[in-house]
Amino acid sequence: MQSDIDRILYHETTILSRLDEMAHTIAKDYEDKELTVVSILNGSFIFMADLLRRIPLPLQIDSWSVSSYHGTKSKGHIEFRQNSIADVIGRHVLILDDILDSGLTLRAIKDRLEAESGAASIRSCVLLRKKLQCEAATVADYIGFEIPDEFVVGYGLDYNERYRNLPYIGVLKEEAIRRHAR
Ligand code: XMP
Repeated sequence: MQSDIDRILYHETTILSRLDEMAHTIAKDYEDKELTVVSILNGSFIFMADLLRRIPLPLQIDSWSVSSYHGTKSKGHIEFRQNSIADVIGRHVLILDDILDSGLTLRAIKDRLEAESGAASIRSCVLLRKKLQCEAATVADYIGFEIPDEFVVGYGLDYNERYRNLPYIGVLKEEAIRRHAR
């Protein structure tokens, strides 16, 4: 598995110290507010666990299962795998996702929450944002790291369901992309 990685972008220690900073900012911003975190699975499960344990607020958690990628390409449309959403009427919602690439996933989630949830506010937090040639479909309010426009895996991120359990974030070798293509 490690030999499929071209280079490591962020080691676990670097990620965790960035999460300390992000958690500090988020905890200040949501102090005295009723917060519900909506985390987007599967990609954000490790990010969610590490970030939320650093936020000392009485928050609630909802997890959404969403799919937009096939291999290394966004399918361009979002599939929600559940029909109902948690009751967040009057609460402040923070969406957590692993990576902002085209922005289509986050845009679709925000649109659905805005239309159906009755939340007092909706913000978003991503661990990674890709620097793209074109503008993304939406912006995130909290960003861990800006990364180059390359396909990355590890720390929850997958390629065809592999590599999620790598403890770091790395760029996948082109050869591994071809070998594990479906
Ligand atoms: P969009 O394009 O909608 O993409 O912003 C967001 C979702 O696509 C997945 N994604 C990636 N997954 N390495 C991955 O493992 C990547 O480089 C990558 N780029 C996008 C991810 O699930 C994210 O939620």
